[in-house]
Amino acid sequence: MIVLKTRKEIEKIRKACQIVAEILLRLKEEVAPGVSTWDLNRLSEELAKKKKAKPAFKGYRGYPFALCTSINEEIVHGMPSKKRVLKEGDIISLDFGVVINGFYGDAAITVPVGKISKRAKRLCEVTEGSLYKGIERARVGNRLSDISHAIQSYVESKGYSVVREFVGHGIGRHLHESPQIPNYGPPGRGVKLKAGMVLAIEPMINEGTPDIEILSDKWTAVTKDRKLSAHYEHTVAILPEGPDILSSLIAEECQVSFDKL
Ligand code: MF3
Ligand code: CO
Repeated sequence: MIVLKTRKEIEKIRKACQIVAEILLRLKEEVAPGVSTWDLNRLSEELAKKKKAKPAFKGYRGYPFALCTSINEEIVHGMPSKKRVLKEGDIISLDFGVVINGFYGDAAITVPVGKISKRAKRLCEVTEGSLYKGIERARVGNRLSDISHAIQSYVESKGYSVVREFVGHGIGRHLHESPQIPNYGPPGRGVKLKAGMVLAIEPMINEGTPDIEILSDKWTAVTKDRKLSAHYEHTVAILPEGPDILSSLIAEECQVSFDKL
């Protein structure tokens, strides 16, 4: 069952999302060669505490950290560690969520560490672009898989591949609600999108093949071919007038990013 949200509830989700977005931006500033993923996790916890928000991932299905830190060939759910020190040329996906006043917010960005290769930069740009291609289709009257298809066709037209094993999700009073949102599929399938749906759309895009492996820590998903992977996520409300990116820090981000494609 997909729970539709009222305007008031959407504003509560926006509040959670704004905290997430601010913290991600702050973490992005901190990313540099020599910084450990442990430090980033600790900072994320500190900042959430200051905002009186609770990290959403810590304890979720036994995940032990507030932040997911996935470097290079790691796709998602990379675990912070004192031993994992960033080096020039890495890309790191930072995935973070909070709950405040009973509502969740969830977002992710992939961040360059110092100067990165053109190859890595292009993967990040296409992955972020695919997120906006998906968001653009999150409109009343479209079907759920129109989002999926928009992401997949853009990504594959650029020569990359879509991870199948993880999906986006509804979000609200729970971190993960119905529906699941695959980042691939034919258009015109699945539920009709309605005003009041709130969706966390999160393409995970690989440079090489779509195949994945889970490391022995039982959490870290990596590319089977060990080529790079990138991940971006926004929490988006479907309003009668169009998609509203709740986790955007900049009001014009939506327009700007659509123009960029
Ligand atoms: N953004 C991810 C998700 O939605 C993060 C979940 S990590 C977990 O689904 F540890 F909480 F599972
Ligand atoms: Co999510």
